[in-house]
Amino acid sequence: MAVKFTWYGHAALGLETSGYRILVDPFFTGNPAATISADKVMADYILISHGHGDHVGDAEPIARRTGALIIANAEISAWLSKKGLKTHAQHLGGGFKHPFGYLKLTFALHGSGLPDGSYGGSSAGFLLTTTDGLKIYLAQDTGLFGDMKLIGDEGLDLAVLPIGDNFTMGPDDALRAVQLLRPKRVVPIHYNTFGVIAQDPIAWAQRVQAQTGVIVDLLKPGQSLSL
Ligand code: NI
Ligand code: MN
Repeated sequence: MAVKFTWYGHAALGLETSGYRILVDPFFTGNPAATISADKVMADYILISHGHGDHVGDAEPIARRTGALIIANAEISAWLSKKGLKTHAQHLGGGFKHPFGYLKLTFALHGSGLPDGSYGGSSAGFLLTTTDGLKIYLAQDTGLFGDMKLIGDEGLDLAVLPIGDNFTMGPDDALRAVQLLRPKRVVPIHYNTFGVIAQDPIAWAQRVQAQTGVIVDLLKPGQSLSL
């Protein structure tokens, strides 16, 4: 098992690879779908895709308790390092070889204002190449964009896509995203947390599998997938 991927509900994700625990968009407090609490979860690294409260989430207390290094765009990194946290700033299009793999920040069609109104730079997605060579694309919050084809050209083992609509891609555009990305498997996220992003993931999975042949892994919050 090279990678253990966990969905914690909404856009909160866990990756375990090469012996490191990576948390992504750690929104637990106030997340009605979360199955664990912010004071229990462990992390060596925390990735934050953009400044919105449902993505910055509990990053600050988790980083303080665990000593995790936070990886985010330069603006969010500066905002968190002023609070005394350890950060590594990257930006869109830029990759860096971390101990857990090569992580690139990708374009995301979304906003990034921070909870206190500070400027949060540009929203990002993540493209991780693990030390074993697996490619994982975490779109996080985004609308559909044509350059997903370029990300797909890398040869993705897993794509994680929002399907909730209203704030991000909905089911129709997420199906088009699968067609552009051509991953081996796909996991839908950012749905059913709140009424405004209620969706039927089973109906979506059936459409994706019928029209693209891509395997859809439907996880319940707290469930994991091994790659
Ligand atoms: Ni957002
Ligand atoms: Mn969001």
